[in-house]
Amino acid sequence: MLQDPTLQDKIAVNINELSLAYGKTTILNNISLKLPQGQTLALLGPSGCGKTTLLRLIAGLLPPTKGNISINGTIVADAASGTFLPPEKRHLGMVFQDYALWPHMSVAGNVSFPLEMRGINRSEREKRVKTALKRVGLGGFENRSISDMSGGQQQRVAIARAIVAEPKIVLFDEPLSNLDRELRENMVTEIKQIVTNLGLTAVYVTHDQSEAFALADQVAIMRSGHIEQLADPQNLVANPANTQVADFLRLGCVMPVEYCSQDYKIRGTSYYLQTPQYSPDHGHNHSHVLIPTRAISATSSHDDSVTAIVLRSQFRGDGHLTTVRIGDDNFTHEITYLDHIPRPQGSQTALAIDHSQLRWFSN
Ligand SMILES: Nc1ncnc2c1ncn2[C@@H]1O[C@H](COP(=O)(O)OP(=O)(O)OP(=O)(O)O)[C@@H](O)[C@H]1O
Ligand SMILES: [Mg+2]
Repeated sequence: MLQDPTLQDKIAVNINELSLAYGKTTILNNISLKLPQGQTLALLGPSGCGKTTLLRLIAGLLPPTKGNISINGTIVADAASGTFLPPEKRHLGMVFQDYALWPHMSVAGNVSFPLEMRGINRSEREKRVKTALKRVGLGGFENRSISDMSGGQQQRVAIARAIVAEPKIVLFDEPLSNLDRELRENMVTEIKQIVTNLGLTAVYVTHDQSEAFALADQVAIMRSGHIEQLADPQNLVANPANTQVADFLRLGCVMPVEYCSQDYKIRGTSYYLQTPQYSPDHGHNHSHVLIPTRAISATSSHDDSVTAIVLRSQFRGDGHLTTVRIGDDNFTHEITYLDHIPRPQGSQTALAIDHSQLRWFSN
């Protein structure tokens, strides 16, 4: 078998300048990443950005147009040399959005399937199916029919099937999107426990930020077939790479700024912002600033505040989510912040901004 020449110890999945096109349409463009063994990577992005396609490439359900993929040091796909290992030779477990279970078969029949494919004998199969079902909290459910299981239980059967052959890597494609919110939150915790207990490496596709942040060591923010930023959740929130990432993660309001009288002001206002001293971009080429939601508060002081008109206010349990408009006739912007009182629509209010929390962008 071909060995990856750049083999590095303990890298479970190594993706190198990977692209995929259907005819002339590029779906994935030049994706590179390294996933260490035992870590979970979330692929997070809007519908159609290429998450499932990337997962299918890792799984071996599609060959890449360019680039290569190694799994635990073995090249499993390489466009240049035409190397392509089929899914069954990659030793991965897979969990899909629609579970892909056979409804006419029993729970044990479904979970046992990957073992049958490998020609494992009956008594060994029964033993392993039992263990896998116990691991997902379904011990004793062997003979139940799939159609008599709830959505959450069916998803656990799908997870049991993915881990029954004891793969080291499991791929999840939006496994919880058919479940209601409460069940989804519980299942995220369960999946995390299973992944940790079994020491699995996981790639987890989702468009749900809270799922990605709860589960993943690293999150790849994808947009239009490429990775915008790859970082751990804390780092993504603290240092979004660009305005698209800040917008996608809903970190606050991204505002255009202009340089004027040796300082930056929000476009369309006369509100000046303190540029941080340490800014690497001190050449005055900032174009946008992110004002995190938590950096904005209502104030009674008119010094150093920005005047806003209230558009709407919505009670949210922990306060009133208030959307206001700032700016002049040429540039108006909407800002949303949490207020402690409801404010009437059309009323004027003053906002204070904590400048130490601003993030600057030049794109
Ligand atoms: N067989 C195909 N032929 C042509 N285009 C395809 C094919 N499969 C997927 N695409 C396109 O590739 C793009 C990425 O699809 P993909 O399913 O990877 O997105 P996704 O991020 O998983 O989206 P979602 O969150 O909706 O599942 C989409 O624009 C899709 O229409
Ligand atoms: Mg998808």
